[in-house]
Amino acid sequence: MGAEHAVAQPFTLASQIPLRRGAQLPRLGFGVFQSSNAKASTIHALAMGYRHVDSARYYKNEDEVCAAVHKFKDGMPNEGNGAVWLTTKVQGQEHGTAATAKAVDESAAIAKRYGLTWDLFLLHDPTAGKQKRLEAWKVLLEKRDQGVFKSAGVSNFGVRHLEEIKEAGLELPEVNQIELHPFLQQKPIVEYCAKEGIVVEAYCPILRGQRFDDPTLEKLANKHGASVAQVLIRWSLQKGFVPLPKSDTPGRIQENCDLENFELDASDLGALDKLDEGFAVSWNPVDVE
Ligand SMILES: NC(=O)c1ccc[n+]([C@@H]2O[C@H](COP(=O)([O-])OP(=O)(O)OC[C@H]3O[C@@H](n4cnc5c(N)ncnc54)[C@H](OP(=O)(O)O)[C@@H]3O)[C@@H](O)[C@H]2O)c1
Repeated sequence: MGAEHAVAQPFTLASQIPLRRGAQLPRLGFGVFQSSNAKASTIHALAMGYRHVDSARYYKNEDEVCAAVHKFKDGMPNEGNGAVWLTTKVQGQEHGTAATAKAVDESAAIAKRYGLTWDLFLLHDPTAGKQKRLEAWKVLLEKRDQGVFKSAGVSNFGVRHLEEIKEAGLELPEVNQIELHPFLQQKPIVEYCAKEGIVVEAYCPILRGQRFDDPTLEKLANKHGASVAQVLIRWSLQKGFVPLPKSDTPGRIQENCDLENFELDASDLGALDKLDEGFAVSWNPVDVE
């Protein structure tokens, strides 16, 4: 997707993007991987207006995240978490028919203790191999249809993994969560997802603080009176992605959602598009067999 296709739109914390089956995904998510205190940070983020939290079984903080949402909502049980979108993921080691079913049920039980339901369940990665991947995907579709959670998606899936789902005659995911920022633009995956109506979530949207001294980023931050993190998150939003910045620092949690006062223009987006160099800060297993 080039700058000419960028989504020019006002952003507010209430902004949402529709998924293929009609659910409304909040445009900005709050990441909690390696969070030192996921409950406190999530409560802080919710108080600041974030309405989307990205957890995973692997992060070992599903319980903390659900407890935070529960506390924030003053303990009111709800149908569909009220205004807060909750995502979790099942990693490759737990893919396969029986293992994935067990994992999903366990995570659902954690949410249920707080009167919550996961809005989005993702296959965390494609590392289990074709057979177990497809088995796991079938389980997610079945569990979704049974009402165990609302929407089903994948993470770190490359084009071949998505094609494999299609070739198996199965419904494609509604979301693919991948590492995505100007230095790793994943264009083939992004284009495939756009063509198939799969919303792309961007993890490591601020590169874990790396490359903050890049001259293009510094120049744009100065131009807009914004921080480098804000420029990166704005880029992600304006490209039509759903960025998931993580922070345990209250000032940064605020900074990362304080995005309404500036907009990148076409020349800014063009300059950022030129930074693509296939540089991953995380594991990015989109090419595994
Ligand atoms: N599906 C996957 O395989 C996968 C992989 C990785 C991540 N994710 C998801 O995506 C989320 C985001 O990715 P990530 O946590 O790896 O990386 P990230 O959000 O790009 O960066 C987080 C790091 O940047 C720091 N930071 C936050 N805001 C900042 C700011 N305004 N200025 C300077 N530094 C700032 C944080 O420090 P402090 O916390 O100390 O403030 C933290 O060390 C994760 O939390 C997780 O939910 C998914």
